[in-house]
Amino acid sequence: DFRLTRALCMLCVCGRLWYLAKLSSVGSIREEETCERLRGLIQKQVQICKRSVEVMDAVRRGAQLAIDECQFQFRNRRWNCSTLETMPVFGKVVTQGTREAAFVYAISAASVAFAVTRACSSGELEKCGCDHNVHGVSPEGFQWSGCSDNIAYGVAFSQSFVDVRERSKGQSSSRALMNLHNNEAGRKAILSQMRVECKCHGVSGSCEVKTCWKAMPPFRKVGNVIKEKFDGATEVEQRKVGSTKVLFPRNTQFKPHTDEDLVYLDPSPDFCDYDPRTPGMLGTVGRHCNRTSKAIDGCELMCCGRGFQTQEVEVVNRCSCKFHWCCYVKCKQCRKMVEIHTCR
Ligand SMILES: *[C@@H]1O[C@H](CO)[C@@H](O)[C@H](O)[C@H]1NC(C)=O
Ligand SMILES: *[C@@H]1O[C@H](CO)[C@@H](O)[C@H](O)[C@H]1NC(C)=O
Repeated sequence: DFRLTRALCMLCVCGRLWYLAKLSSVGSIREEETCERLRGLIQKQVQICKRSVEVMDAVRRGAQLAIDECQFQFRNRRWNCSTLETMPVFGKVVTQGTREAAFVYAISAASVAFAVTRACSSGELEKCGCDHNVHGVSPEGFQWSGCSDNIAYGVAFSQSFVDVRERSKGQSSSRALMNLHNNEAGRKAILSQMRVECKCHGVSGSCEVKTCWKAMPPFRKVGNVIKEKFDGATEVEQRKVGSTKVLFPRNTQFKPHTDEDLVYLDPSPDFCDYDPRTPGMLGTVGRHCNRTSKAIDGCELMCCGRGFQTQEVEVVNRCSCKFHWCCYVKCKQCRKMVEIHTCR
């Protein structure tokens, strides 16, 4: 069933590593047989899928969330996280142990935890709901009430489903250690941003009674944290301590990474040129760049010194909007010319 498989085109990192469902054009995964047809799952993931088929729709939404957030965070970089229509969806760009791979693993593990937790709170799953461990009166004197996000459930699901590929290979290879570390760092990014939201009750908005619940941050915030970790990622290598293998910073002058940091093994390519032999290596020809910026979005760096073209285009905006009683808003159309710079 080609259409289905294609639609089930999974967020596959590295072909042989792991996949997440990207099932946008298929309804939902409701039946256990669907699990068998999800290309790219390893046997243990198929078992988890069958055991918790109701959760798989959330996994699919998580995968889409990860792709969208990755593309947002990388919109101004040479590698812009574009996905391919074929598998693996990120192409070969993340098959090496680069920083970019570290980001993709972290954001994906986080997005699965996030989407599953959301599904628990919304009541769409039988196996989980709100976090009932959060109850009673807090030390600050407010009442825990309402639906606290059950992040522990989402994190545990992500650990079992996403990490199983690395675990099933044994934790021996440095690449498996790197992936597991970054998966965990991604989930920690949600945990570190959990917050308390409250509502006041009482006459005319007075706060006589305050009820509060624990809530996840918006996913954008999680993306921002993981992107910061990407910028400060630590290059590591594997060393043996007794009989266990551990990742250490390659540069011994650097302070060791924490559980929340991203780690990588291999330097990144420069992503400058299109390479037909490396799927996903699109190069930066045709990318927009910023003429005045000295950062990676600037034309100098983005275009890798090849230069750029400048075009004037007209953009139309709504402006001078006026509110008319009652009730509509009337705007004028303003036209202005803007320059767009494009890499050669
Ligand atoms: C990424 O850049 C390529 C050009 O190198 C472009 O074709 C593609 O649409 C961009 N993808 C995203 C998601 O912006
Ligand atoms: C271009 O870069 C400059 C300097 O970093 C910044 O102030 C400006 O907002 C950028 N322009 C656009 C269109 O992003």
